[in-house]
Amino acid sequence: MGKKRWIAQCFMLSAFVVGNMSCVFAADARIEERVDSVLRLMTLTEKIGQMNQLSNKEDLTGQQLEYFDTETLIRAGQVGSMLNVAGVEKVRRYQEMAVNDTRLHIPLVFGLDVVHGFRTISPIPLAESCSWNMDLIEHSARVAAVEAAAAGLQWTFAPMVDIARDPRWGRVMEGAGEDPFLGAAIAAARVKGFQGDDLSAENTIAACAKHFVGYGAVEGGRDYNTVDISTQRLRELYLPPFEAAARAGVATFMNAFNELMGIPATGSTFLVRDILKGEWNYDGMVVSDWGSVAEMIVHGVACDKSEAARLAVTAGCDMDMEGYCYVSALEDLVRKGVVPESLIDDAVRRVLRLKFRLGLFDDPYRYCDTEREKRETLSADKRDAVRSVARESIVLLENREGILPLNKRYKSIGLIGPLADNPDDMLGSWCAWGDGRDVVDIRQGIEQAVGKSVAIRYAKGCEVEGDDRSGFSEAIQLARECDVVVMCLGENRFMSGEGASRTRLTLPGVQRELLQKVKETGTPVVLLLTNGRPLVLDWEKENIGTIVECWQLGVEAGNAIADVLFGKYNPSGKLVMSFPHNEGQIPVYYNCKSTGRPYIPNERYVTHYQDCPNEPLYSFGYGLSYTRFEYGDVALDKDILAEGDTLHVSVPVTNVGDYDGEEVVQLYIRDLCSRITRPEKELRGFKKIALKRGETQVVEFEVSFSDLEYVLADGSRVWDPGTFELFVGGNPDVVKKASFELK
Ligand code: BGC
Repeated sequence: MGKKRWIAQCFMLSAFVVGNMSCVFAADARIEERVDSVLRLMTLTEKIGQMNQLSNKEDLTGQQLEYFDTETLIRAGQVGSMLNVAGVEKVRRYQEMAVNDTRLHIPLVFGLDVVHGFRTISPIPLAESCSWNMDLIEHSARVAAVEAAAAGLQWTFAPMVDIARDPRWGRVMEGAGEDPFLGAAIAAARVKGFQGDDLSAENTIAACAKHFVGYGAVEGGRDYNTVDISTQRLRELYLPPFEAAARAGVATFMNAFNELMGIPATGSTFLVRDILKGEWNYDGMVVSDWGSVAEMIVHGVACDKSEAARLAVTAGCDMDMEGYCYVSALEDLVRKGVVPESLIDDAVRRVLRLKFRLGLFDDPYRYCDTEREKRETLSADKRDAVRSVARESIVLLENREGILPLNKRYKSIGLIGPLADNPDDMLGSWCAWGDGRDVVDIRQGIEQAVGKSVAIRYAKGCEVEGDDRSGFSEAIQLARECDVVVMCLGENRFMSGEGASRTRLTLPGVQRELLQKVKETGTPVVLLLTNGRPLVLDWEKENIGTIVECWQLGVEAGNAIADVLFGKYNPSGKLVMSFPHNEGQIPVYYNCKSTGRPYIPNERYVTHYQDCPNEPLYSFGYGLSYTRFEYGDVALDKDILAEGDTLHVSVPVTNVGDYDGEEVVQLYIRDLCSRITRPEKELRGFKKIALKRGETQVVEFEVSFSDLEYVLADGSRVWDPGTFELFVGGNPDVVKKASFELK
């Protein structure tokens, strides 16, 4: 990527506010004609075949509910799409079956979870989001798209844009954290990255906004569990990133597994027909989640496949992923007059539209070029791009002792911990065709960075899980003999992701104990964390002065971490999800609402815990740098805002430390009196800037009248006159305030 010295990005709400405007795609008349011409030729059976998606049986990403002979079904025109098939050779083989052997020669569309890279694995999305760098995030999705498209794929089941406030839920690693405003910006960036400007180009792929909707709110953080949130909360918190994705032109949506207010999302007319396809006028395609049509039987709202199929197609689910309900039941339902054929036509139109947009009807083998596949897979430019993303994803949590960046003082470094010499766990969950052999792990990255001038010694100490302490003594001895210890602790990659909810979020196994013992040696310790969710780090924060949140950074993990450790890159990441003090504090997030009894120290009858603060241990928006930034006073160009006005906000930011660095300047607002309760603080803008040592920049934001509106449960957008507070800062506890009136 052409690296910009100055990263100046400004995201204000107006980019995502859509009010009642409808748009999404300007339907291409030529494509619509072609869709209709194909539809006219199709029998009912062929139409329903297009609504069926099957997985490659060798690479399942869910439980297989039934067994069918895929090849026979494809040849019979009973399959419209496949998932989990990748690589030009395999894709071509299945595509030939569809194109050569079916009556209408309609090509298949091939999808895969390219969530953070195809083969050149990039940081997990939660990590990447901590860069707050939209160009970088877009580019990262572009890199993944180019490589995936070269491997024959045309569709990724990403981005996951579920807002998540509960780190017990393992899928937080796939998302962009807890904030709807930032989540919306990231959703749009990732969609643009995957899809580019032209979906039919051979190096772009269709994206999929998932999981629609509310999946991040599963009770207790237990995957697939019940979701019951108010329509108000749905609109203000969970829908904005989906709406932003739709506005950015995302080609597809995926239903969620969960129920919402008593109705499984896959069968929810309110969510899909009314909001997505109605209010937002979305003309793309909706795919179910894996088996989620059939799961409505298990949810207990359908007594058989036929009823499940009827509920789903009525609600607006266009394609049944591995559920076998549509192919087995829809034809009969239409023939009996239970389901109108117009609903089938609507769904099939959306499937065909996608295939036309991807250019598959012009050339079904457009994505099947073996030369391109060889050239693009793991190419050097992709690794470079992923390294830039990886180092910008790292969040410096503590540097109280000024140990970092490590300098020449340290002649011997002791590398300790189960994640130091461990390529596989750098890949994270959902790593598609990623391969541990492609990874530069932490040990390799550090060894390459220091060359022969510094002695690197290694002791594993313990495993990620379990209670085996037999490696402790070697690790402790090593710590005693080295100038500094770099401890690599955290989670393995399968401890987060789908089906990976956890109730204990401290360092697993005996890792904390090992850390305590190493700390007792008196040798300075740098704690490097590799994990897929916010952890409980209460003891660590108190006792370890140097903590770096590295997440799971992908194939360039070791190089990116070495760049940060030795000061080649000054960390600039800011958390996008709050870290709790302990599990009992969950959910904890920055944008909470004021209660009728706000916290007052030493008062009993106010909102508080007796044994834990209300605030998170590390909040959304927090992250340190090797340098320090000082904020001057916030200036507003007016005190009173009337309809149609724009407020200009400016604040001088100076780099007063010893290193050049980057800062994420964040702007929050608070509406002091409104007709419904509003958060105490809401992100409404951010800019990432680079400042040389001693340099000052006046950072400017524009807040428009519509940025101060909010949504009500019925979907209308309103504002209230009165006072607003505005906060600008780079860390939650370092903020400058101002206020203004809305008239
Ligand atoms: C997940 C989806 C994924 C699908 C296909 C499901 O289990 O929930 O996010 O896209 O599998 O792999």
